[in-house]
Amino acid sequence: MEFVKYEVQGAVAVVTIDRPKALNALNPDVLAELKATFEAIDQNTIRCVVLTGAGDKSFVAGADIGSMSTMTKAEGEAFGKLGNDIFRMIETFPLPVIAAINGFALGGGNELAMSCDIRICSDNAVFGQPEVGLGITPGFGGTQRLARLVSPGMAKQMVYAALNIDAQEALRIGLVNAVYPQAELMEAALKLATKISRNAPIAVRNCKKAMNEGLQVDMDQAIVIEEKLFGDCFETHDQVEGMACFLSREKPKPKAVFTNN
Ligand code: CAA
Repeated sequence: MEFVKYEVQGAVAVVTIDRPKALNALNPDVLAELKATFEAIDQNTIRCVVLTGAGDKSFVAGADIGSMSTMTKAEGEAFGKLGNDIFRMIETFPLPVIAAINGFALGGGNELAMSCDIRICSDNAVFGQPEVGLGITPGFGGTQRLARLVSPGMAKQMVYAALNIDAQEALRIGLVNAVYPQAELMEAALKLATKISRNAPIAVRNCKKAMNEGLQVDMDQAIVIEEKLFGDCFETHDQVEGMACFLSREKPKPKAVFTNN
């Protein structure tokens, strides 16, 4: 891969968008590599994914403006679908994905971060949807996910005014969960990912599915989704052993490999 790096640290995968000369902007090649990287993750051994950008300046500075500059209406729509399909794949990826936002998260960069489960950032991070200044709308989910993650009024203010915000403001409005000094960001992301990866894998996956799917429907349907995924955990090794160990006051042995029985 030329633009996406992949490393494994224990049960945690680290995916790094690596096009620092263009501040990790997303052109069709970067998007294709990002898709291929997620598709290749071994879901039997990996329990959590950390997504970040190369360098100390930018997570992702958006979709590649050079690539978009000559697109027709049809090409623009197809490019939007390309990004949306990949970001939706990340959002619905069975394993939790943590965005470690190490600088600019603009346009497609903020949209990519918003398709992850958890966002943490460095103190130099900058967030925004600058698209209207370029004569387009946010096109990789920004008009949809930002309004769902922060208040609709704040999302509209950021999008209509192309208003960038800093890390502390992103924390205040709930766009990120925590802010770290730049040098400590990856350590914090890996620590959180490792903590997640030590929990029962079927239960963690089912929690992600329950929250993601439940948020799309009304409460009556949402609790039915929860009931099914709750029930699905029973009779698994981790449920049987986890509860037996609690009752006998022993420490449960961590399961090395994902298994559905
Ligand atoms: N696309 C293509 N190239 C980009 C880029 C982008 N989104 N962002 C930065 N780059 C390139 C620059 O062209 C420059 O390349 P050269 O050295 O070859 O000239 C290099 O990255 C470094 O950038 P700057 O010199 O501009 O760095 P800076 O520190 O002065 O500014 C910045 C940093 C404020 C992030 C500025 O680069 C910038 O405003 N970038 C564009 C941000 C943007 O508008 N993003 C949204 C894109 S539209 C979108 O994402 C649509 C969608 O929803 C799908």
